[in-house]
Amino acid sequence: MPAKAATAAGVRVRLEPLERSHLSTRYLSWLNDPEVTRYMETGTFPTTAEDLDRFFQSVTGSREQVVFAIVHKESGQHIGNVKLGPIHWVHRCATFGIMIGEKKFWGQGLGEDATRLTVEYGFYRLNLRRIDLGVFAEHEAAVRCYEKIGFKVEGRFREELFQGGEYKDRLWMGLLRSEYQPVGKRK
Ligand SMILES: CC(C)(COP(=O)(O)OP(=O)(O)OC[C@H]1O[C@@H](n2cnc3c(N)ncnc32)[C@H](O)[C@@H]1OP(=O)(O)O)[C@@H](O)C(=O)NCCC(=O)NCCS
Repeated sequence: MPAKAATAAGVRVRLEPLERSHLSTRYLSWLNDPEVTRYMETGTFPTTAEDLDRFFQSVTGSREQVVFAIVHKESGQHIGNVKLGPIHWVHRCATFGIMIGEKKFWGQGLGEDATRLTVEYGFYRLNLRRIDLGVFAEHEAAVRCYEKIGFKVEGRFREELFQGGEYKDRLWMGLLRSEYQPVGKRK
């Protein structure tokens, strides 16, 4: 079902506006955890509480990017964030990003749930027509998660990213609103 409000509920997670109260020491620890940030640009440099506060201030009230806290419905725990940004209002497209920082919640379908909610918010609330993203080609969990939502690989940037002492390929993936199949409407 399309997201009806800025706060959207999925099967096992809900999205909440990112509030100052979400800026916990756990959240800070995700940003400095090499396992969590292995395939993210965040994490290359250490992140301090002040950096996190600056990030929050740059995001809140912005019309160029939207960040939501991912909350695990059953436990009420803040487990990560999703982002749409930059948003291009002329082209009606935006770039998607996700981080589930609480590692014990990986591999349970929550990434897929949160991605779907964000995509539906983008298409049906913001009236976007295209959402895209960049991902390390070898990041199987992320690529699979995006493919399940309907993202298609649109390009491969060879050896674009330096990680773990090597240059790695980045995939660029995109999803059009015209081809998106909401849950329940899929064949
Ligand atoms: C990448 C991330 C969003 C995936 O979310 P998740 O909740 O762990 O993934 P899901 O449980 O929704 O799994 C989605 C699919 O990937 C598969 N998958 C999960 N972990 C996998 C792994 N390590 N290897 C291969 N496939 C994997 C799942 O089996 C599922 O596919 P299936 O339903 O066909 O079995 C999450 O792990 C994360 O935030 N990681 C840290 C930050 C990050 O890397 N962000 C993405 C940057 S592009």
